[in-house]
Amino acid sequence: MHILPLALLGTATAQAIRGFNSGGIGPKGPKSQQDFEAEFNKIKNLPGTAPFTSIRLFTMIQHDTASDPTVAIPAAISTNTHLLLGLWASAGQDAFNNELDALKKAITQYGEKFTSLIDAISCGSEDLYRITPTGIANKAGIGASPDTLVQYIQQLRDAIKDTPASGAKITHVDTWTAWVNESNFAVTKAVDWLGMDAYPYYEQEHENTIENAGRLFFEAYNKTVAVSQGKAVKVTETGWPVAGPQFGQAVASVENAKRYWDAVACPLLGDIDTWWFTLDDAKGDPNEISFSTIKSDLGDPLFDLGCPGK
Ligand SMILES: *[C@@H]1O[C@H](CO)[C@@H](O)[C@H](O)[C@H]1NC(C)=O
Ligand SMILES: *[C@@H]1O[C@H](CO)[C@@H](O)[C@H](O)[C@H]1NC(C)=O
Repeated sequence: MHILPLALLGTATAQAIRGFNSGGIGPKGPKSQQDFEAEFNKIKNLPGTAPFTSIRLFTMIQHDTASDPTVAIPAAISTNTHLLLGLWASAGQDAFNNELDALKKAITQYGEKFTSLIDAISCGSEDLYRITPTGIANKAGIGASPDTLVQYIQQLRDAIKDTPASGAKITHVDTWTAWVNESNFAVTKAVDWLGMDAYPYYEQEHENTIENAGRLFFEAYNKTVAVSQGKAVKVTETGWPVAGPQFGQAVASVENAKRYWDAVACPLLGDIDTWWFTLDDAKGDPNEISFSTIKSDLGDPLFDLGCPGK
C-alpha cells in the first residue's frame, strides 16, 4: 500500500519506535510494578510481529500518592523498556507541580538507568482537544489552553535542565484537529516534535467506513505534517475498536480492527515512531468501546499482527 508519505521514506529507518499506550489502571485496579513488568514483557513477545519496545504513560504520579513516581519506572528499568513519559496538564498548576515533582524524584532516585530509557516527555494529553466545541460536546473533561501549555512546557524544560534527563525531547500529545488549529500554533512552536492522535472511528462527520479509514488516517497525518513547522510528527495514539457501538459509518469489530491494523499499523510500524492504542484496555462489557489488541490477562492477540511483505 503506497499511502506512506514518500517524503518520509528517505529518512525512515527500521529503528522507528514501536510502542503501545499504557494506562495506570488494569483489570484488577491500579497496576503494580509486577503488572507493568508482565505487560512490558508481553509487548516484546507478541507472536507474528517484531518486538514492541516502548510504552507511553499518561502521568508521572503513582496512584493514590501526591507525587511519588509511578511504579511503571522500576518496571521499565527491570525489563529494559523505553518510555514516552507523560505529565497530566489539565488539572491546574498545583497538580502540574506534583507531576514535575514526581519526574524530578524519579530522576534522583533512578538516575541514568531511568533517563537512558526516555524516548521523550509529553507535556499533556489531548488538553487542547478537550476545550474545543467537539471535546465539550463529547464531555471529554477539563482541558488546558495553548497559553497554559506553553508555560508548562517551559516549566518542564526548566525542571530537567542540569539533570541526567536534560537531553530529553519535549512533546505534547493532541488530536490532529488540535494541531491543525491555528490558535494552537504556539504549542507547536514550543515542542521538539508533535504527538498526533487520530481515530477515524470517531470521525462520524466524515465517511468513516473501515474501507475509508486508512485514507482518513493518512490525510490527518499529512495535514498535521503540513503545519508542523518542520518538526517530526509521531503517532502517539491510533487504533480501531474490537467492540463498541457504531459511530457514523464505523463498525467496531475484531475483523475491522485487523483491517485497520493492516491499513494503518503496517505502513507506520518500523517507519514512523508509533504508540498504538492499545494493548489491553480492560473493558469486559461488550457494549463498552474496547481498543484492546490482545485477549484479557495478557492473552493472545485478538487478530493476526503480521504485516505481509514487511
Ligand atoms: C500523504 O502524503 C504523501 C506524500 O505527499 C502522499 O504520497 C500520500 O498519498 C498522502 N496520503 C493521503 C491519504 O493523502
Ligand atoms: C481552536 O483552538 C482554540 C484554542 O485552543 C479553541 O478555543 C477553539 O475551540 C478551537 N477551534 C475548533 C474549531 O476546534
